[in-house]
Amino acid sequence: MKPIKAGLLGLGTVGRGVFNVLRRNQHEITRRAGRGIEIAAIAVRNVHKAHEAIGATVPITTNAAEVIRRDDLDIVVELIGGYEPARTYVLEAIARGKHVVTANKALLAQHGNEIFEAATARGVMVAFEAAVAGGIPIIKALREGLTANRIEWIAGIINGTSNFILSEMRSKGLPFDAVLKEAQRLGYAEADPTFDIEGIDAAHKLTILSSIAFGVPINFDAAYTEGISKLAAQDIKYAEQLGYRIKLLGITKRTAHGIELRVHPTLVPMQRLLANVEGAMNAVLVKGDAVGTTLYYGKGAGAEPTASAVVADLVDVTRMHTADPENHVPHLAFQADAMVEVPWLSIDDTVTSYYFRMRVADQPGVLADITRILADGRISIDALFQREPSEGENQTDIIMLTHDAVERDVNAAIQRIEALPTVLAPIIRIRQEELI
Ligand code: NDP
Ligand code: HSE
Repeated sequence: MKPIKAGLLGLGTVGRGVFNVLRRNQHEITRRAGRGIEIAAIAVRNVHKAHEAIGATVPITTNAAEVIRRDDLDIVVELIGGYEPARTYVLEAIARGKHVVTANKALLAQHGNEIFEAATARGVMVAFEAAVAGGIPIIKALREGLTANRIEWIAGIINGTSNFILSEMRSKGLPFDAVLKEAQRLGYAEADPTFDIEGIDAAHKLTILSSIAFGVPINFDAAYTEGISKLAAQDIKYAEQLGYRIKLLGITKRTAHGIELRVHPTLVPMQRLLANVEGAMNAVLVKGDAVGTTLYYGKGAGAEPTASAVVADLVDVTRMHTADPENHVPHLAFQADAMVEVPWLSIDDTVTSYYFRMRVADQPGVLADITRILADGRISIDALFQREPSEGENQTDIIMLTHDAVERDVNAAIQRIEALPTVLAPIIRIRQEELI
């Protein structure tokens, strides 16, 4: 059988990875897909740079529309990134009856509902395994492997750049900025690294996971997002003393009142596998009612790990290419007409435990005032220690862990405590999860 032909939009970190993996493993891939997969055209902005990267083996143009409009191509692989022109290209490819493979989580988190609706109406597939957790087949696992389960929650390290930064800061004592530069050099970081360090990239991915887990429309606006840029080295150290590691987690949970969707630095008990995921590695914990907790671990970024997922999608599309559209696996795991609307919970409604660091005057009665306010707010203390002040120092840090409390109550208590004249700086608050 003749190879299936694909057009590649973008030949950056991931595009080059896809090109190289397809070329290197062509024989094995053909044996699995049932026919060859050929990159027949490539669109980039800088043709010279692209030729330098892969030689002159494939036609390369700056005109993406020309690639999308070629009648002999069945698949368009979007690896440009960002919202526009990616959205326009993907929608045009769908309108022309082409299947789409993309690694673009930002695009799907913002415009996924529109894109999947268009694809379903046109009877084509949009595959996006690489959009979440790079090389880890988490979309496939959730959509197919765990399909018997009612999913209860997902918690994951789904941004390699921020995990790399946290790991290097903790283990080597390196400064934030230097580690971020290294992550950029290694190709992990997004074009705009704010997306990585402010939790936006993780929120994009979590939004997609949540939709697939619970059969609800994609709703990025419902995500609470807090990154690692304000995290202080001393909190990483204090957490360690208490037996915890700080990780940027994406958490989505089904509760009796609605769905939680939140990304924030989180204290994780050191003995959990998730706490020991280091460097740019990703890991996703999924709790299903039948299977219990399952863990997926691997490289979440980088050229070939991400290419592994893109090529897997290309093989899936090649295998299903001639199937009737009603036999395709639904994009978001649930049949399009079986998606439901549910309430999304605000971060104020979250119930979890907390780490506090309070800079206070070292004088009698300070702790009593603080614990009184916490008790008034129904916040129970689980552990507490006070840093021994240095000689001559008249202030200190109180470090505290709480039992579960409602975030709204915690906010009110923090406001009252910060108003005490003996509390000398804004309180540092980091959420904590036991993950069992
Ligand atoms: P890069 O910035 O390395 O590459 C982007 C490519 O797109 C470049 O070849 C660029 O061309 C091309 N491009 C940009 N705009 C246009 C345009 N208007 N028309 C044609 N080509 C264009 O990005 P990555 O490879 O890192 O990322 C690609 C996608 O994969 C993104 O959505 C990203 O979020 C996602 N992703 C990335 C991962 C990673 O580890 N890097 C992991 C998982 C997902 P030129 O070079 O000529 O400017
Ligand atoms: N910038 C992303 C990360 C790339 O660091 O995880 C993978 O999606």
